[in-house]
Amino acid sequence: MWCEPNIRMLAKGHLYSAVLLFVLRGATEPRSVEAQISSGFNFLVVFPENIAYFYPEEPHNQVHVTALHDNTEVTVAIRKQTHTETLAAAQTRRFFYYGNAELGREDISDKVVRVNSTGQVTVYAVSVKAGSVQSARVLPVNVLGTEYLVLPVPKIQGTTQPPDMVSAYVTEFAPFRLVVVNAEKVNTVSLEGDSNNTREVELEPYHAAQFWLDTDKAWRVLRAKHPVAVLFGHPCTMTNVTLNCSCSMLYAALTPKRHDKMAFLVPPPLTQDSQVQTALLLSQEDSSLVDSSYPGWPLVELPGIVVLHQPGLLLPLIPQSELASCYVVNTVQDAHNFAVILVHKDLTAGVRVGSGPPEDPIWRTLTGTDYVSTVVKLSLDNNAIWHTSDKIAVYYMGEKEDALFGNPAPAVSQTSDYRGCVLSPEVLEIGPEALGWQESVKFCRDLNLHLVSLSSLPLLDQVQAKIRQEHTGDGFPKRAWIGLRRSTLTGAWYWINRETVTVSNWKGADPKGTHGGQCVTISLELDQEFDWSREYCCQNVHPICYRGPNLFPM
Ligand SMILES: *[C@@H]1O[C@H](CO)[C@@H](O)[C@H](O)[C@H]1NC(C)=O
Ligand SMILES: *[C@@H]1O[C@H](CO)[C@@H](O)[C@H](O)[C@H]1NC(C)=O
Ligand SMILES: *[C@@H]1O[C@H](CO)[C@@H](O)[C@H](O)[C@H]1NC(C)=O
Ligand SMILES: *[C@@H]1O[C@H](CO)[C@@H](O)[C@H](O)[C@H]1NC(C)=O
Repeated sequence: MWCEPNIRMLAKGHLYSAVLLFVLRGATEPRSVEAQISSGFNFLVVFPENIAYFYPEEPHNQVHVTALHDNTEVTVAIRKQTHTETLAAAQTRRFFYYGNAELGREDISDKVVRVNSTGQVTVYAVSVKAGSVQSARVLPVNVLGTEYLVLPVPKIQGTTQPPDMVSAYVTEFAPFRLVVVNAEKVNTVSLEGDSNNTREVELEPYHAAQFWLDTDKAWRVLRAKHPVAVLFGHPCTMTNVTLNCSCSMLYAALTPKRHDKMAFLVPPPLTQDSQVQTALLLSQEDSSLVDSSYPGWPLVELPGIVVLHQPGLLLPLIPQSELASCYVVNTVQDAHNFAVILVHKDLTAGVRVGSGPPEDPIWRTLTGTDYVSTVVKLSLDNNAIWHTSDKIAVYYMGEKEDALFGNPAPAVSQTSDYRGCVLSPEVLEIGPEALGWQESVKFCRDLNLHLVSLSSLPLLDQVQAKIRQEHTGDGFPKRAWIGLRRSTLTGAWYWINRETVTVSNWKGADPKGTHGGQCVTISLELDQEFDWSREYCCQNVHPICYRGPNLFPM
């Protein structure tokens, strides 16, 4: 946010197209859907019926809000009741709703919790009743859609099997549902199936509708006039038929329909127990399928959605094209909390959980792909899980009374940085004009940047990688000033950020003696290894201006 004025100024004109590209990527990098859908300012939360609305135990429904920036004012509201609090960066606040927010079986309800904030936040919804727990990543309102694919109903012994037992009258044998949450406009929502089956409802602002998915209708798609949020699931699926009444709520928050074919990496089995049945629920435009041959497929490609099902768990998979560099992972009290991380097999060393690498990770191969996965235990309230140089997939998982639950973790950044989880990325910009070194220092400072000090090896690597990535070939400056020069007082080289000179990349031997130039350029020619040379400070060379990233505190 704080770098925007500069960008506007720079974007006005007079820069190299290459240079302009730098600036845009640095500060307002176009973000893929997955990054956009995870943090935001406005959210709608609904708590579907858990076990049964009359079950004699109070629900402990929770909205977890994590602020990304300091002084974030968060308001949660249900009906006319509102509550406002100010959060610090990285602070997670759990708002509790007991009996008053859970849906019953009404078709239409006004029990929708609205969350808004003055700064970006991530939001989890957690439903707890007795041992039945479910968590969901809540999508911000601005990325909700008007079209959602309906998932096929999984085969669950004691709930959907045998099929002739499915009946609206018995909780654990009731049909699966869609819960649709309307945003701020009066809306029309219709559920469409094969053979021109259609069911339509009108929805007032901030109301939720429930659709029972009678399986004989082959429901395919849900459409709305204005954007809505959609949950798919069941209040009470059997997790183990030999244990009477050991049912648990099963819900997944769906993402709006996308039209491109996408690849989904399927995490390896989360349990060693071969008794536990796992299936993939696959849905695309005109077909849906439950595939129980899992773990036969480490990678699934289709223009639709893929959700992994295990007893207690419906886990929407993150498409490979929408992996992110940093996720904020909350935890649920009184549960065993962990995360599943998927990363390219050559880049496991760059995975961080909080400020350090995971402890003794065991990496399992996703056969037939370049990816590996691991499971890490979570102990803090919220955990940044990130990568120093690449994009990864992260799922939050919890376990309570032997039932799993979980969700894709909310992504907060698409830009990786060796220093941490990026809230606003570093800015790297090559000045449009060749200037003397001293004028270059001023030029950068006037933009609220600094002539770059490449004072550490990871920074050197990251800057070089970025220049390589953005290099536009002919017409790109051949060399540029960096913030290194020799003291006329002591003769020693120093960085203008005052860090000691511990790394260098001189062309040939380290320059000795006071003759020759007292300032330093870096080569930008791609076949030159970015080596440094001393130059006379009054020469005219393009400056590299720089500012570090703004990071999520850990
Ligand atoms: C959040 O919503 C409340 C009403 O529920 C409203 O009064 C407030 O202005 C909103 N805040 C922001 C930052 O939009
Ligand atoms: C569905 O409706 C369309 C257009 O109204 C019609 O052409 C088609 O034959 C119908 N299909 C079925 C299976 O009824
Ligand atoms: C179901 O519960 C019984 C009794 O506790 C246990 O022996 C069995 O292993 C469980 N089955 C599964 C699939 O978890
Ligand atoms: C389940 O119910 C049956 C019949 O009511 C009973 O015989 C059996 O002991 C119960 N099993 C458990 C694990 O409670």
